[in-house]
Amino acid sequence: MEIEQAKKELKEKGFLDIETNEGIDYAVEIQKLKKEKNAVILAHYYQEPAIQDIADFVGDSLQLSYKAAEVDADLIVFAGVHFMAETAKILNPKKKVLLPDLNAGCSLSEACEAKDLQAFKDEHPDHVVVTYVNTSADVKAISDICCTSSNAKKIVDSIPLDQPIIFAPDKNLGAYINKVTGRNMLLWEGACIVHEAFSIDKLLNTHLAHPEAKIIAHPESEEHILKTAAYIGSTSGLINFAKTDSANEFIVATEAGILHEMQKKVPGKTLYPAPAVEDNTCACSECPYMKMNTMKKLYLCMKHELPEVNVPEDVQKKALIPIQKMLDISSK
Ligand code: 13P
Ligand code: SF4
Repeated sequence: MEIEQAKKELKEKGFLDIETNEGIDYAVEIQKLKKEKNAVILAHYYQEPAIQDIADFVGDSLQLSYKAAEVDADLIVFAGVHFMAETAKILNPKKKVLLPDLNAGCSLSEACEAKDLQAFKDEHPDHVVVTYVNTSADVKAISDICCTSSNAKKIVDSIPLDQPIIFAPDKNLGAYINKVTGRNMLLWEGACIVHEAFSIDKLLNTHLAHPEAKIIAHPESEEHILKTAAYIGSTSGLINFAKTDSANEFIVATEAGILHEMQKKVPGKTLYPAPAVEDNTCACSECPYMKMNTMKKLYLCMKHELPEVNVPEDVQKKALIPIQKMLDISSK
């Protein structure tokens, strides 16, 4: 009885993995649960292939926000990281939003706490605050407008030229947007651990080995990586470029999960993951947060409808404003 009680408490906290579930075909069971519970699974391109294949919709951060805003299902299951599930909850406060592993965070979000951003805002009261969606609801609640890597240029361009801007938390995306817009935004000191791990030496060696391949990179990468790129864009931008460009080989500088969908879109082309500094095994970069979600956790989270992502009502209302502004400007 005590063991059962302990298990119940652990499950409520999101530690669903304590179930063994040997012999279960997760794909079959997840399909059943989707129908039974009128659930929709939204997945980011960085999720493991099996999760992408079972999802109802796979996309980049912006596409997932639009999808979350129009969802008709009773249950939203977010196969991504915490800030994404939180954004879905902010857009759908009445719906239940689940995240297979509550610990699936993001180094960018962790680098920017609301109290620190508030102090920075207080030091620069004439600045407007543009925040990347890779932030907590508390940070969004004190931001003027959000952006993703797909629409950052458009969002920044929508702000009058003489208006000073704080851009948080990704210093690499911020520096890239400063460059392409000619602005001089104040940049927060955050970075993505995955995109900062690419090795320029190894990347150039990979290019030497495959001289016909075009380097394509996500703007969360550092400047020296971006300088080598023939194309810079969000995850959906990178997939689209590989599809429409005439080249037959690409070296892809972003999280390796993207290769699954990209390869489906370009079956005849060759894709090489950009190598990371420390990586001597698979020569690719994986986000440890994104990869916390597994098919087993997805199944258990749908079965138990846990762990749930919630946002306090006052924060939800304030955080909705910069997200909605972003969606409105982005769709124009
Ligand atoms: P996009 O899918 O918007 O390009 O973002 C990448 C990312 O790092 C999400 O965490
Ligand atoms: Fe955050 Fe980087 Fe992982 Fe995206 S890839 S969730 S930005 S740590």
